[in-house]
Amino acid sequence: MEGIVRVGLVGYGYWGPNLLRNYMGLDKADVRWVCDLGAGRIALAKSRYPSVTVTQDYADVIGDPEVDAVLIATPISTHYELALRALEAGKHVFVEKPLTSTSRDAVKLIELANANRLTLMVGHTFEYSPPVMKIKEIIDSGELGDIHFMASSRVNLGLHQKDVSVIWDLAPHDLSIFFYWLGEEPTHIGAVGRSCLDGCNPDVAFVNLAFPSGAIAEIQLSWLSPVKLRRTMIVGSRKMLLYDDTESVEKVKIYDHGVTRKVEPDSYGEYQLSYRTGDIVSPRLDTHEPLFTEASEFVDSVLSRRPPRTDGASGLRVVNALERAEESLKHNGSRVDETMNYGRRKDDDQLLVEPYTPYVHQMFIGP
Ligand SMILES: NC(=O)c1ccc[n+]([C@@H]2O[C@H](COP(=O)([O-])OP(=O)(O)OC[C@H]3O[C@@H](n4cnc5c(N)ncnc54)[C@H](O)[C@@H]3O)[C@@H](O)[C@H]2O)c1
Repeated sequence: MEGIVRVGLVGYGYWGPNLLRNYMGLDKADVRWVCDLGAGRIALAKSRYPSVTVTQDYADVIGDPEVDAVLIATPISTHYELALRALEAGKHVFVEKPLTSTSRDAVKLIELANANRLTLMVGHTFEYSPPVMKIKEIIDSGELGDIHFMASSRVNLGLHQKDVSVIWDLAPHDLSIFFYWLGEEPTHIGAVGRSCLDGCNPDVAFVNLAFPSGAIAEIQLSWLSPVKLRRTMIVGSRKMLLYDDTESVEKVKIYDHGVTRKVEPDSYGEYQLSYRTGDIVSPRLDTHEPLFTEASEFVDSVLSRRPPRTDGASGLRVVNALERAEESLKHNGSRVDETMNYGRRKDDDQLLVEPYTPYVHQMFIGP
């Protein structure tokens, strides 16, 4: 059908239903299949959306010649294989965050998508959320000045994941947000963490990053916390900003606060600090649902054959940063620099993956 993308969803666990609800509401999408290994899960999908065909066998979805695109919302360890099979079958692919569990796999998916002129998109949902998009606008306008540092907390009494650490579960959000805001990747990443419950994956981690611009950042992540925090503070040379995603209104506040250093004439280099505590302004935000905007972006990029905003390269950047953070965690927080670039150490003969290919943006997808 002209102007319509026919999709199949694989993975109808916790997150898949959110994707399905949004794709069901898109005029330009036609959801044909829902696939999950669990019989109860597909029965639930069928009861909610009788028009979709359900299956426990992924081969049914990618084998359907009428399906244009596949949405993958399964556990991280399965992303690569499922995405690879879809791309090999000639389908456009949307994969939930993080894109893959190694940068080597992310590179392979990007190469395959490019070679076959297929869209590969990653679900960095926050890059489509109104407060995050507004903050990008504010940073780019120069209102905050140069960014000195950013600090975020993403903690709650969360579900312990069996197969991944808290870094792989929660950090993709903050990493993708920070890279989007700053438009750069970190030179150094360090991480400390521990498993507070014996025998489990690390359930608390503090990740720190340094960027080429001089900005530094810290991300606190935990599944063990008395309260839920989703808060980021940005301190710039001109103004400061607080983003609290748990607030229902006024999620973003800009503080006209700062400290300036004045050298007094004839004072032999002595200086005075002048403190400014001015207005606090909360900008108006759009009210669209991030997942709906994200779904529209995927469908539009498939239809217009242009790279999506959160393309494979965006997914690779985040996966690489996650690998570096995990590497640091194993070495008690030592800083892992960019020489561990996409899984490769410059001065190490033994490459962890193939040499790094600079994917600044996914290539243009021609007609
Ligand atoms: N963007 C976001 O804000 C956000 C939020 C939560 C989760 N996620 C991501 O969504 C993905 C899924 O997370 P979840 O919490 O829904 O996991 P989940 O374990 O609740 O659900 C995964 C589902 O996939 C099914 N599944 C696994 N392998 C399959 C296969 N080979 N074929 C068919 N079905 C299969 C399972 O049966 C399960 O129902 C993860 O990548 C996670 O990081 C994203």
